[in-house]
Amino acid sequence: MIIPSAISRRSFLAGVAGVAASASLQRPVHSSRSGEFTLVAKPGRLPIIGSPHPPTDVWCYGNRVPGPEIRVRQGEPVRIVVHNQLPEDTTVHWHGIRVPNAMDGVPGLTQPPIKPGEQFTYEFTPPDAGTFWYHPHADSLQQIGRGLAGALIVEEAAALPVDRDVLWMLTDWRLTSDAQIASGFGNAMEAAMSGRVGNTVTINGSISDEVRVQAGERIRLRLVNGSLARIMALRFEGHRPVVIAIDGQPCDPHQPERGRVLLGPAMRADVVLDMQGELGRNYHVIDEFYEGLSYWVTKLVYEEKAPIRAHPFDAPVSLPRNPLPEPDLASAERHELRLQGGMMGGGAMMGLGGMRGLGQGASWAINGTSMICDGRPDMPPSVALLLGRSYVLTFRNEPAWWHPMHLHGSSFRVLSRNGSSVPYRQWADTVLMPPKESVDVAFVADNPGDWMLHCHVNDHQVSGMMTVLRIV
Ligand code: C2O
Ligand code: CU
Repeated sequence: MIIPSAISRRSFLAGVAGVAASASLQRPVHSSRSGEFTLVAKPGRLPIIGSPHPPTDVWCYGNRVPGPEIRVRQGEPVRIVVHNQLPEDTTVHWHGIRVPNAMDGVPGLTQPPIKPGEQFTYEFTPPDAGTFWYHPHADSLQQIGRGLAGALIVEEAAALPVDRDVLWMLTDWRLTSDAQIASGFGNAMEAAMSGRVGNTVTINGSISDEVRVQAGERIRLRLVNGSLARIMALRFEGHRPVVIAIDGQPCDPHQPERGRVLLGPAMRADVVLDMQGELGRNYHVIDEFYEGLSYWVTKLVYEEKAPIRAHPFDAPVSLPRNPLPEPDLASAERHELRLQGGMMGGGAMMGLGGMRGLGQGASWAINGTSMICDGRPDMPPSVALLLGRSYVLTFRNEPAWWHPMHLHGSSFRVLSRNGSSVPYRQWADTVLMPPKESVDVAFVADNPGDWMLHCHVNDHQVSGMMTVLRIV
């Protein structure tokens, strides 16, 4: 696969000395007993690459990238006041959290946009524990691409027994040689292909050379892919990650296929890592999704200290289920969502001839219609679902490109791929679709409102791969 102007992180960094070693583990956590938070979105200047490169002009929450890690408790009310000090409208979407429709952060559809200088208060009670994230839903290609995003962790009533709970918010940036964010958001050619894949991947906002670990410890690693377009397949040299949750929702604990944790944009995975490597050794964490373009994200570096326990940690790794209603597959009504468009070989667009709603800049469509935006007042729903009923949605990916398809307001159970049942029970809010594959998902339409359904490669979304489901 061709990634426009992909430069491996290491080659970008050639000549850069002394990046702060374990910076990626020291993260400011925003938690508050009262469940009240303030987020200020504004321009900032931050050392993403580190010396001798200059700091990068970003847009960020709370003057950091990623934005503050918000920690709240399952079932307890949260109130977050968002101040907009950006030069343009914004909103915040709480990705994956089953919020009431009015709190979903889609401009025009669920709320008026927050104008520069104004604020908006989001209030909701997260029903599910897990690893979620927040990001703007206005001009999101540019706003996420300039750094606006953060993790939102909803803690279980009883924490999983581990030695450390670690967050890696992974962000892909497209930087120029002077460490500035490259212009050219919304390039039509890219939008019709893989989207804006960058050239620099950070963990928790900076390049990570190493993460120090201790032999014998067990880490719960929360992975968030906050990239615009980069898909990741993370392999942990010498280690066997066990996936315990996908998109915040507990799954049957399992070792991922070929040991690789596959994460499309917006997807999360919680993995348990037992540090059973050798003292003093280093193990690379490698992203090998794009063939021939693998690079290492960081290294696990074992301290020269005796293991912290004599025997491997053997507590169970399963998480308590979240209160998701189980769809009734026997009575479920079926809907098909055909994903269409994109560039084929030779520069021709696939299948967009004669499509309705094709405005300027459309490259993609769902069931023949392209909605081109991040949210606006006049988005007619394409599918109407009845409150309380079970549905099976079939996503059929006709083009030759990957698409992480995200539904707002609900999590769905992933049933099958190309007609074969998925091997582990799993729920998600974003399902990664390989080219030419079809995926069945099921859920109970229990959250009323108009909900967006779109590809989370933001260039794809804003060039037509988006629709609205109405639950009434
Ligand atoms: Cu992560 Cu429509 O959003
Ligand atoms: Cu897509």
